[in-house]
Amino acid sequence: MRSVDVIEDAFILCDDGRISAVGRMHDLVPLDGDVEELDGSGCAAVPGLVDCHTHAVFAGSRAEEFELRSGGATYEELHAAGGGILSTVRATRAAGAVGLADALALHRSWMLASGTTTFEAKSGYGLDRDTELAMLQVVREAGGSPTWLGAHAVPPEFADADAYLDFALAEVLPEAAKIAEAADVFLERGAFDAAQARRYLEACRGAGLRLRLHADQFTEAGGVALAIELDAVSVDHLEATGPEGVRALAGSNVAAVLLPVAALFLDRPMPPGRALVDEGAIVALATDFNPGSAFCESLPLVVALACTQMHMAPAEALAACTVNAAHVLGRADRVGRLAAGYEADIVLLDSSDWRYLAYHLGANHVAQVIRAGTPTA
Ligand code: NIG
Ligand code: FE
Repeated sequence: MRSVDVIEDAFILCDDGRISAVGRMHDLVPLDGDVEELDGSGCAAVPGLVDCHTHAVFAGSRAEEFELRSGGATYEELHAAGGGILSTVRATRAAGAVGLADALALHRSWMLASGTTTFEAKSGYGLDRDTELAMLQVVREAGGSPTWLGAHAVPPEFADADAYLDFALAEVLPEAAKIAEAADVFLERGAFDAAQARRYLEACRGAGLRLRLHADQFTEAGGVALAIELDAVSVDHLEATGPEGVRALAGSNVAAVLLPVAALFLDRPMPPGRALVDEGAIVALATDFNPGSAFCESLPLVVALACTQMHMAPAEALAACTVNAAHVLGRADRVGRLAAGYEADIVLLDSSDWRYLAYHLGANHVAQVIRAGTPTA
């Protein structure tokens, strides 16, 4: 994760949306035909950033709850009282498919401005058939990677988690599996326990979906062991994971997706990023962008937090939200690197030192975003 090749005075040649060559300017052979040049003098080019964990399709606002939390109310208390995730469910159900597409387009424009060219987004704010499917569909239509978070919370019309899962697996999964690329579950006290998560994930695997888990956000409740047993692609959050969980992940193929903004936003401990990298786990970083626990779409801020709060090196943090995040989405052969054959997703920073991405806290050094060879603004 520490190996970042820096090429000084470089060119990136793109053809038909893909990178065809990368090298030093003085090695660039004369080009025939109709070549459009974008001058990046003085800028560092980094791969388009990959956000592998977001909840970017939502309606409404949780500013009220944010204010209550600033006065001492906890995230879990608000959730237990029918607020939190369920308040976003009410707003999202009321938005309609067009409202959801508009909301995602707005959030997508914020993400692009922060350098995110590939994104994943989860459902989980519908928890009924039509809204869950509409959420997945708008993500797919926007070019994102849709994840069915059918087990995010128990909606009020069901008596308990098992009754809700009976419905979700029978009525929603068959259609969701046609749109989504992965399935996800919130394994936590007050949400779904390990037995319920297992039932949900096994059914989703049977329908051909890749598996992911929200686990160890507040308590260690068996999510890491379950992820390893079911050969999940990733287990995400891990703020509460102790040394045993770190060792288990390091000996597995399950990626640890760390979400330091969620820890900061809820004033929770940071996940054990340094230990996971040192022990050899597959580590990715993401925003967790959502209206409740991480209202922040900036991967540069995530990278800064990874370096300052989890003691990851800037190169490790960059790898974690490019190549490793692309691996989590099953797109590692297409995005996440500036190399021939990859999609021409390029972020130009208005600094010649790429480490400004991590170093300048809270600043936005993203000067230009190129998606599939085309400048986005
Ligand atoms: O990843 N922890 C569960 N789900 C989201 C938060 C969703 C919300 O608060 O709206 C998360 O933090
Ligand atoms: Fe999340």
